[in-house]
Amino acid sequence: MPEMTTPEELFEHELKDMYYAEKALEQVLPRLASEATSRQLASAFKQHHQETKQHVKNLEQVFSELGKPPQGEMCPGIDGIKAEHDKFMREEDASQQVRDMFLTGAAARAEHYEIAAYTGLVAMARTLGETDAAKLLNENLRQEKDALKKVETISKDLLKAAKPNGRTRSSNGRRATSPSRKRTTARRGSSR
Ligand SMILES: [Fe+2]
Ligand SMILES: [Fe+2]
Repeated sequence: MPEMTTPEELFEHELKDMYYAEKALEQVLPRLASEATSRQLASAFKQHHQETKQHVKNLEQVFSELGKPPQGEMCPGIDGIKAEHDKFMREEDASQQVRDMFLTGAAARAEHYEIAAYTGLVAMARTLGETDAAKLLNENLRQEKDALKKVETISKDLLKAAKPNGRTRSSNGRRATSPSRKRTTARRGSSR
């Protein structure tokens, strides 16, 4: 592989990385929507799937601004987030409620990854004088930030709904375990 020496080359490399990531997410989001049992969460995934299709198109437009063909480059970051999700869904015997909570965390991880990548890409495009590219990349970045906020709100709602009654904080700030929680723990302990 030839030595990479310019910020333009790095910009292109990062673009390819995101193109791969967005295409992977385009495949994954419908699956997340079907795995979610919370209607709010499923509809958030469906909406972000539509947005993700646009992110792919925007990236293709950026490639064309640069006079390059759209091309992906393997992104182990997004593959890892996906693999973590797959492993949990395969190995953990979780209730629907817990699965939904898990899915919000998996989605938030992906959004954080995208936000970090697009923040860097927008800065590079601006510095390199690629104004149109910067605009398109910034559109994607804005939607990733909105998607993260939405999934964080849903996560809080799910947590609140799942919080068992009677669990309180004691005066020393430690969580006091309610009798019903103790029973659940004991039952679980005896079954394994
Ligand atoms: Fe995206
Ligand atoms: Fe996203």
